[in-house]
Amino acid sequence: MIDPRIQDAVNDQLNFELYSAYIYYSMQSWFENQGMSGFANWMAVQVKEEMSHAQIMFDYVNERGGRVYLKGIEGPSNDWESPLHIYQTALEHEQIVTGRINKIMDLAQEIKDHATVQWIQWFIAEQVEEEASASDIVGKLEWAKDAPGALYQIDKELGARVFNLPSPLAAGG
Ligand code: FEO
Repeated sequence: MIDPRIQDAVNDQLNFELYSAYIYYSMQSWFENQGMSGFANWMAVQVKEEMSHAQIMFDYVNERGGRVYLKGIEGPSNDWESPLHIYQTALEHEQIVTGRINKIMDLAQEIKDHATVQWIQWFIAEQVEEEASASDIVGKLEWAKDAPGALYQIDKELGARVFNLPSPLAAGG
């Protein structure tokens, strides 16, 4: 049986993952509107990643005999200024997510919930990737400045991103 404190923490984080999807959806919309289809594709994949993170949390709470309680999802900003502004915001957002995931680990260790300690490790590794990929694109955009040729090249590169089902879901739970 899941500890109620872990159930609450994972439910909260599930909501935050859906909020993350909402933010990236808003960013995708801006890129679509600008005709930057590669950037929009990268964001579309990111939306699916966040939805899959929520799904992993949904499955875990249920698997442990707990209950998922859904709450309202906060509205995202729709005021984006540039690709660099968007990716800087994405990086800052992922740093917040990392802090939240670490807090779930801290709680699981504190109450000696070994199953959750093991389970949350996938997310800790995932956050290293999430921060690295946003940071990498921030670096490229800082280098490109507003040069159309460089932006076109980055757009082309990001257009190649594909969604892969995360391993906890691919493994069937
Ligand atoms: Fe689900 Fe981008 O962290």
